[in-house]
Amino acid sequence: MCGIVGCVGHGDDTLDVLLDGLETLEYRGYDSAGVALVGDSLIVKKREGRLERLREAIETSDRPGGTLGIGHTRWSTHGPPTDANAHPHTDESGRVAVVHNGIIENYQPLRDKLEADGVTFTSDTDTEVVPHLIAAFLQDGLDPEAAFRRALDRIEGSYAIAAVVAGDDRIYAARNDSPLVVGVGDGRFYLGSDVPAFLEHTRDVVFLDDGDLVVVDADGWQVTDADGAPAEKEVTTVTWSAEQTGKSGYDHYMLKEIHEQPTALRQGLSGRLDELAGTVSVEELSGIEAPGAVQLVACGTSYHAALYGVELFRQAGIPAQAFLASEYATGPAPVLEDGIVVGVTQSGETADTLSALREAQARGIETLAVTNGVGSTAARECDHALFIRSGPEIGVAATKTFSSQLIALNLLVETLAPGDRGDTRTLVSALRDLPGDIQEVLDETAAETVVEENAGRDAFFFIGRGENFPVALEGALKFKEITYEHAEGFAAGELKHGPLALVTDRTPVFAVVTGNDERARKTIGNVKEVEARDAPVVAVTDGASDVERYADHVLSIPETHPRTAPVLANVQLQLVAYHMANQLGREIDKPRNLAKSVTVE
Ligand code: G6P
Repeated sequence: MCGIVGCVGHGDDTLDVLLDGLETLEYRGYDSAGVALVGDSLIVKKREGRLERLREAIETSDRPGGTLGIGHTRWSTHGPPTDANAHPHTDESGRVAVVHNGIIENYQPLRDKLEADGVTFTSDTDTEVVPHLIAAFLQDGLDPEAAFRRALDRIEGSYAIAAVVAGDDRIYAARNDSPLVVGVGDGRFYLGSDVPAFLEHTRDVVFLDDGDLVVVDADGWQVTDADGAPAEKEVTTVTWSAEQTGKSGYDHYMLKEIHEQPTALRQGLSGRLDELAGTVSVEELSGIEAPGAVQLVACGTSYHAALYGVELFRQAGIPAQAFLASEYATGPAPVLEDGIVVGVTQSGETADTLSALREAQARGIETLAVTNGVGSTAARECDHALFIRSGPEIGVAATKTFSSQLIALNLLVETLAPGDRGDTRTLVSALRDLPGDIQEVLDETAAETVVEENAGRDAFFFIGRGENFPVALEGALKFKEITYEHAEGFAAGELKHGPLALVTDRTPVFAVVTGNDERARKTIGNVKEVEARDAPVVAVTDGASDVERYADHVLSIPETHPRTAPVLANVQLQLVAYHMANQLGREIDKPRNLAKSVTVE
């Protein structure tokens, strides 16, 4: 992962533009940060730790000047987070500086060869071979662009790379399997591994493709393909605003994004529901035939959305399976005939998910990306893309994008396998009311009280059945990733097959029970099992069943459709995780060891 930023055409504020850009990218990695500025000379400043440490280091030394520069925020893959391993990396003379996102797979033989040639390395990173290679080619008399291209020819792996050279007024950058975008302003141009890096300055964006090399200077940008031929690129205007990527008065992005869910869902549904006819119509899906079977591939929170999707497809009579993307592409390919593979990925850049989708494509299978990433790799590589339209999500813990994915999967299933007219009409009406229902949960939640009364326990368990099983898994994932407390989610019926051994009066159990059907009743049976072991029970419920009788606390959701109830229940669990993490003083938006967009396998 890691974040890359670059800018050309600014004056004295170049350094600030880079640092502010890095701040918006810190969700991509945050164990060190650095910048390189080209003015009369090339100056590099970098520090282990959060961006704040780099800012402090700059304040207490000479402020580097320059009118173009590149910056980086790192999530370590090769070498621990130290000042030396922070990017940018330079050649021995300090003439070339490089930032890199991804992995250079053949760095060891390249490093061995360079060292044999007498080059001294100063870091443990794979990246450092690149500035040394560029420097060697400059030494051979190549101009900076040719030297950069020659260095790229030597490296194998995944990368977004940007380089600057002292005494030169251009930034050279390239992408292969790692996102990189160009921002087009008025006489000012930007690079970013994601759009928020420069959103404050421009909304006009060029999405680069694998193999593209871009040269950016104060006169503009030129893209060439891997063979050096000019590549035609469109400038896309994104609809996100810089305001949307700020915290808008909330203490954390996560809380802001939880509260943005009514708006995110309205955006995701806009123009896709015909309320009069009671039908669903999604333009992006018009070219897809009803499949014989569906495989969903995803990671993390998106995998939980995929599990929910499986339940919907099965209810609609279409055989469906969900796979952890990291397992899909590395074993024998799961059989699929007359089917479609759906990649669920908020970023559209997760390496494991991209590999799984590519594996499916290599077998000639039709693919669809369900993603928030317009212009993302998944959206561009798949045969079809369904955009969830959540708006930018900065907090590492996915919240609003999960809800938007659940809604998008409903739209997908209704489009590919429309239910009976009456059923669809009821669902459409529930979807229309859902943003308001979420607002009601946000306004009336008792999550803070539940957290206060359950703090300091040994472990936290989450149970649910059917469409509420993914909610239990997601509730536990959110809880553990931001509180660092032990949390696990189970299918309610599985509890008695092992995990019940862990249940005591010091392990609160969150039971998601919606409706009053057989599943709800069986889950209540499981609630009684934990109650009998004195576990504190928190019921997340619409009140349709009598689960409240067996609960110590209740987190209520409004009555809704069985398919939309999990969305509301999950909002309650997001709030529980948030308030517990806040009470424990955790770094909510940047949990330790995690990053939002994981572009390594
Ligand atoms: C990372 C993030 C998770 C996310 C997962 C999949 O691990 O920390 O929050 O769920 O990647 O991301 P995607 O962008 O593919 O949904």
